[in-house]
Amino acid sequence: MTEKIRVLLAEEEIDKKIREVAEQINQDYQGKEIRLICVLKGGVFFTCELAKRLSVPVTFDFMSVSSYGDDTKSSGRVRIIKDLDQSVEGQDVLVVEDIIDSGQTLSHLLELLSNRKPASLHLCTFLDKPERRVKEVKVDYCCFEIPDEFVVGFGLDYAQRYRNLPYVGVVEFEKD
Ligand code: IMP
Ligand code: MG
Repeated sequence: MTEKIRVLLAEEEIDKKIREVAEQINQDYQGKEIRLICVLKGGVFFTCELAKRLSVPVTFDFMSVSSYGDDTKSSGRVRIIKDLDQSVEGQDVLVVEDIIDSGQTLSHLLELLSNRKPASLHLCTFLDKPERRVKEVKVDYCCFEIPDEFVVGFGLDYAQRYRNLPYVGVVEFEKD
């Protein structure tokens, strides 16, 4: 089997959209400082591109979580692989994620963060697959809603590969 990547979102389109979303965030957070929380690893590329276009003051922290991979339980609880370095109490927190699929990871992560008493807590995702939602998540900022297809690039991986593609593509398998 050979893998082929079909382009879904081109680099220019992504760039334009991130500028628009950043502009909206700049307006909404006027007079505030944002604590950007990048969800590793997939959120790294989007976090960087978004942050470069923010004009409000920003500080960064990073978190890595993994779903308990147990298909028999749909609790979707998350395990913290790497926790934040700093407290978010009293901070205006903006969580930056690569993609929201079932919503289970994010709904647990947001619940966990809200228990730490931030001044505000919002979510910015690069991609959203609304058709796949199992757990409701309030998405405050989203660059693109996409159909139910497995995508890679711009931080998203297939078996840890393709994260560095500057565009978003769908993995297609071809028989050799
Ligand atoms: P969920 O919203 O809890 O189902 O999980 C979201 C996570 O699943 C994301 O942070 C990604 O790591 C991964 N994921 C979901 N859909 C895709 C995809 O199309 N490509 C690559 N990773 C995906
Ligand atoms: Mg992710």
